[in-house]
Amino acid sequence: MLRFILLSLILVLNPAYAEEWRGHGGPVRTLDVSKDGREVLSGGFDGASIVWNSANGAAKNVLRFHAGSVDAVAFLPNGDFLTGGEDGIVSLWQPGAKAPVMHWKLHDARVASLAVSPDGKKFASASWDGLVKIVASPGMITELAGHQVPVNTVKFLADGTLVSGGQDGSLRFWRDGQQSAMVSLPSGVTAMAVLPDQTIAVGNGDGRVRFVADGKVKSEIVTGELPVIALAATRDGKTLAAAQIRGAVSLIDVATNRIRTTLVGPGLPVWSLVAIDNATLLTGGGDRMIRRWNLATGEPAGGVPLIKSADELAAYADDPGAKLYRACIACHTLKRSEGPRAGPTLEGIFGRKIGTDPDYVYSDALKGKDLVWTPETVSKLFEVGPAHYLPGTKMPEQTIGSPQDRAALMQFLEKATKP
Ligand code: HEC
Repeated sequence: MLRFILLSLILVLNPAYAEEWRGHGGPVRTLDVSKDGREVLSGGFDGASIVWNSANGAAKNVLRFHAGSVDAVAFLPNGDFLTGGEDGIVSLWQPGAKAPVMHWKLHDARVASLAVSPDGKKFASASWDGLVKIVASPGMITELAGHQVPVNTVKFLADGTLVSGGQDGSLRFWRDGQQSAMVSLPSGVTAMAVLPDQTIAVGNGDGRVRFVADGKVKSEIVTGELPVIALAATRDGKTLAAAQIRGAVSLIDVATNRIRTTLVGPGLPVWSLVAIDNATLLTGGGDRMIRRWNLATGEPAGGVPLIKSADELAAYADDPGAKLYRACIACHTLKRSEGPRAGPTLEGIFGRKIGTDPDYVYSDALKGKDLVWTPETVSKLFEVGPAHYLPGTKMPEQTIGSPQDRAALMQFLEKATKP
């Protein structure tokens, strides 16, 4: 009895429940972390901005000022912070205050992105009105009119150069109020992250992440078919997280330019990302919650949301294929009785014609295709990746590089998906 009480207490007190940070009344559109890593700032479609304690997810201050959504937020090095809204306004806040100390009506359309210069003395805003503005002090505002199409993202490089990315696929570099260089990419620029070596990771509308350095694309990686909506690099620059619109989050190993894993768990799809250190990622979800993830495992921090999936796999404890199947569990079930998730049930997958599970609504990429799933075809799917094997599919891009791993996963599926 005592053991039971203790166990219940441990479950109730388990801090993993705090890993769902609740406060927003709509999707969490944007996230930033303070320089010291102690505070997180979020902006939402509900028009609120929230300052959170990054250690425990406690909401310290809920701020309402903007008319419409808050689409951009940024910390200054001294702990003050900026919010930018659908109303074209940028506001400056001091910690603890309930109203901004200052605000500027900078744009005629939403402020899509904000960036603070490395010395903290100026900030830049990018807007769907086609303009980038730099504010050096209340009266010193520089207008950078180059894009003339919606500008989705701005970042400062360490040397003070400003980089902006537009819907037209152009990446423009600005120095002293003048455009100093431009790189044209084949698809709209939707997000950016600057790595410690000053390589710019660029998220594009075609589902690719391109790495730009010295004015050139050095490499690229396909995360899926849908637009990349958010990017975040860890402080050491080793891992880059890329979220696709309506899709999952891929963790890219920067050194090898490969997708290491995709996040497995609740709260997908996500709208925003930020890495609070080298091991922890926060995602801002369409379900109004912010969640913390372990970057090494790709699992939600605390592990509690995975109890259900752990149960599903309990019967296969020592099976190496079951471990690999953890990359599928967020979206698929092994038994029809557990219902469909984001993807169709895999019960009876071998021998099933593609796109024919009666309980699931497929994308056109799978409907009416002439293919039967076998260990060979499913293995091929993850050898080349869904985006190549089934162009246009809703399944996010992921590959399993090792032939042994693919074989182990197929052996597991043969056992576990038998009707
Ligand atoms: C983030 C979600 C997600 C993850 C993770 C995921 N899938 Fe999928 N999967 C989907 C979706 C969505 C579809 C349906 C695709 C469509 O209709 O375009 C799908 C379709 C499939 C299909 C085709 C099913 C059919 O009935 O034709 C197979 C096979 C499959 N997935 C296997 C896997 C395996 C194996 C893994 C893990 C290695 C995995 N998936 C991981 C979302 C996911």
